Amino acid sequence: MTTRHFLTLLDLTPDELNKLIRRAIELKQIRNNGEIYEPLSNQVMAMIFEKSSTRTRVSFEAGMAHLGGHALFLSSRDTQLGRGEPIEDSARVISSMCDVVMIRTFEHETVTTFAQHSRVPVINALTDDYHPCQLLADMQTFLEHRGDIKGKTVSWIGDGNNMCNSYINAARQFDFKLQVACPEGFDPNPELLAANSERVSIFRTPEEAVQGSHLVVTDVWASMGQEDEQKEREREFRGYQVTPQLMDLAESDAIFMHCLPAHRGEEVSAEMMDDPRSVVFDEAENRLHAQKALLEFLLVKPKA
Ligand code: CP
Ligand code: NVA
Repeated sequence: MTTRHFLTLLDLTPDELNKLIRRAIELKQIRNNGEIYEPLSNQVMAMIFEKSSTRTRVSFEAGMAHLGGHALFLSSRDTQLGRGEPIEDSARVISSMCDVVMIRTFEHETVTTFAQHSRVPVINALTDDYHPCQLLADMQTFLEHRGDIKGKTVSWIGDGNNMCNSYINAARQFDFKLQVACPEGFDPNPELLAANSERVSIFRTPEEAVQGSHLVVTDVWASMGQEDEQKEREREFRGYQVTPQLMDLAESDAIFMHCLPAHRGEEVSAEMMDDPRSVVFDEAENRLHAQKALLEFLLVKPKA
């Protein structure tokens, strides 16, 4: 059997993704009931971080512990990866000792190269181009708060970044309409846009993009690795802040998400973070449950 990886949302079928987020809700219940469920005892996950993280590290490490396994934190600062050992060699070595590998890095090609040389599943925990694990949590959160997202309208406000690209993949896999508002020059990946033109449209004002929307989402204006562009981006994205007033232009039952960390007063106002329509902390918690479902999907053989 070929090894399954999770590098983008397109690595799973729509049916597998829908089952996975429903399973995440069950695993959340199991945890909340205090039941022990340890299908991954004796299994080890390597977690390679070339960028900072709070949620991703805590959720994967806690998730492996809950499932009876162990997680190994590997920073590029103190492994040979940071000193130039080739990805191909690192993949062969690490995957010979661990059962699953999670990578957060810059170039998306790093995770695809690693996966090509890995004998165990590889999970993309954020690259410059995609952040698929976050989308599992977001889709679970929408399902919990508002039911099935199929046929709904989602608005992405801000940078056409890794999260926005993943929302385009989600629009395809979960079958919703995506309305993106970004300034010219900050569009998402053009090939992805072209491949999903029936579902995704681009606007130049947030006010247009939130019309008819059931879910409004934003993210930082300068992602990790773009720290030098912070000031320039603050100028370019002026007018793109998500506020309660902007939410009032969406559907009356619309909810707000942000993958966090948030910059209050930039892409989101302080009052929006605490508005009753904001589900950002449920969304953050669901990283844990959704990734446990992902680990179970990748590592636990279904009973014959
Ligand atoms: N949303 C998210 O991935 O958060 P961290 O950068 O804290 O992992
Ligand atoms: N777009 C952000 C997401 C952080 C979770 C970044 O890449 O820094």
